[in-house]
Order: sequence, then structure tokens, then C-alpha cells
Amino acid sequence: MYKILEKTRFSDKVFKFRIEAPEMAKHAHAGQFLMVRANEYGERVPFTFADWNPEEGWVEFIFMVIGKTTAMLSDLEVGDCIQDVTGPLGHPTEMGEGTWIVIGGGVGLAIAFPVARQLVATGHEVHAIMGARTKDLLLLEEQFRTILDDDHIHITTDDGSYGEQGVVTAPEERLIQAGKADRIFCVGPVPMMKFATLTAQKYGIPIIASLNPIMVDGTGMCGCCRVEIDGETKFACVDGPDFDATKVDWNDLRARQAAYLTEEGQSLKAYEEVRCACQR
Ligand SMILES: Cc1cc2nc3c(=O)[nH]c(=O)nc-3n(C[C@H](O)[C@H](O)[C@H](O)COP(=O)(O)OP(=O)(O)OC[C@H]3O[C@@H](n4cnc5c(N)ncnc54)[C@H](O)[C@@H]3O)c2cc1C
Ligand code: FES
Repeated sequence: MYKILEKTRFSDKVFKFRIEAPEMAKHAHAGQFLMVRANEYGERVPFTFADWNPEEGWVEFIFMVIGKTTAMLSDLEVGDCIQDVTGPLGHPTEMGEGTWIVIGGGVGLAIAFPVARQLVATGHEVHAIMGARTKDLLLLEEQFRTILDDDHIHITTDDGSYGEQGVVTAPEERLIQAGKADRIFCVGPVPMMKFATLTAQKYGIPIIASLNPIMVDGTGMCGCCRVEIDGETKFACVDGPDFDATKVDWNDLRARQAAYLTEEGQSLKAYEEVRCACQR
């Protein structure tokens, strides 16, 4: 059991948990993730380490409520326990030399933030491109502003409700043309990662994508997180989650992510009905 030490609410649907996990805190690195099972009947879901402290024995993860498990987690409070937490899993992000562009879209911003923070902490110049469909769905702006000044933050919204109207590839291309990109890291919806990759490829800039297929065990045993990289099958949990983005089969990844949409919708609806009944 893993005790919740702190719960922070960033917005209606975005939370951060600090949990007691002394062993995990000793071994965590930026880009790695943990697997959480909210209760003994729950599914296992992955979240990226947002922060950790080996001296104080805690780790943190940030999550957005999008389905049943994240809704269940958001109902937990300080002092409650999470049934199982496993980690660190996956390989840390490789932080090569030079100026970086870190691109995060939607919930991908929760994964992009710890990578950007670690790059800054290790002396890299970093430009963050933060994309969202609309202003209300833009995650962690305040947190990004604690590590980067205004000139290094570039916000886009699809509907123009905040920042620049459009998609992340517009500032990405401008930064590349201005010579401000030696390497790029991206994470978010598949179409976003695909087009960020095509833009980087046009200019020959190396680009890494953190892939987010559905995961079940997170340790390479179930095969659920299969991704196609340069025609070879890899497991995102043990071989990734970061891969050379120019080698990813994006159509395959998109199809795999959407495999259980109907069941996920039904599961959330059933949970919300129980939750409403309990609150009456
Ligand atoms: C390596 C990795 C790191 C991640 N880090 C974060 C993070 O730091 N913060 C964050 O908010 N989200 C993160 N995610 C996504 C997060 O795991 C999903 O949002 C979560 O599993 C949704 O579960 P749900 O039951 O609430 O939603 P559901 O309704 O079950 O699913 C909604 C969507 O979430 C994805 N999803 C569902 N179950 C899983 C699963 N077991 N594994 C992976 N994806 C799933 C699918 O795309 C699905 O269509 C990460 C995913 C991966 C693979
Ligand atoms: S999640 Fe099972 S093999 Fe990767």
C-alpha cells in the first residue's frame, strides 16, 4: 500500500499526488514511469514521474482525469492508500547536448514537464512548446513558467482561445529556422507527434517521441504495449517509452490506442453512476 502524502489540484481535471515510496525515490530518473493500481480490483495504468526525493522518500505524478481509473484516483484524499505502485519502469530520457525544443500536447504536457525541468537543471537551453485544443485544457503553464522565461515558452491552442492559434508545428518550424533546435522531444496525441516529427525531419533535426500505448504489466510480459519501430516490434514499457520518432509507425500506434474506446466509455459511465449514487 502506498500512502498519499499530498494531493494538489491544478484544475478541474488535473491533479498531482505525492506518495510515500522510499525505494522508488532512490532510483527514479526523468522520463521513467510508474504503474498504479488504485484498488485490488483496479486496472494498472502508467504515469510518468513528475518529481521525487530520495532523502524524504517520496515520488510524485501528475494526472489528468480522462477515464475510470483516473476518476477513481482523483477521489482519493491525503492519508488514503493506493493499492499497488510499481517503478521505476522504462528507460530514462537521454539528454544529449545542445538546445532542446520540448513539445507537449494535451495530457502529454504532464510527461513533458519533468523532462524539460531535468534538461534545464542539467544546463541545457530549452524552448517549451505547449499545445492544447483550448485554453481550459492547457496543463501546467504555471509550472513551466517556474523553470523557463517568457521567451522560452510558446503556447498554441487549436481554437485560438489562448496563445497562438494553430498547432505546435508552427512555433517548432520557426524555432528550427532561427537555429534554436539541436534536438527535439515530443509527447502527446499521435497526430501531433507525427507532424512534429515530419517538421523536424524536413530540417534533419533529431527528434525523440515518448510513446503512450496501452500498458498492462509494464514489465515486458503481456505484449500489450507493442509498437512498430523501423519495421521491428518493440515493447514501449521495456524498450522505451522514448524512441527515435522518425522510425515510429504512427498508424499502428493510433489503432492500438483506440482498441478499447467503447469499453473504456462504458467503464467510466458505470463508475460515475456508482459515484453519483454514493453522493446522494
Ligand atoms: C509511459 C506512459 C506514461 C504516462 N504518463 C502519464 C502522466 O504522467 N500523466 C497522465 O495524465 N497520463 C499519463 N499517461 C496516460 C495514462 O496512463 C492514461 O491517461 C490512463 O491510463 C487513463 O486511464 P483511465 O482508466 O482513466 O482512462 P480510460 O478511459 O481507460 O482510457 C482513456 C485513454 O487512456 C489511455 N489508456 C487507458 N488505459 C491505459 C493503460 N493501461 N496504459 C496506457 N494508456 C492507457 C488510452 O489511450 C485510452 O483510450 C501515460 C501513459 C504512458 C503509456
Ligand atoms: S505493458 Fe506488457 S509488455 Fe509492455
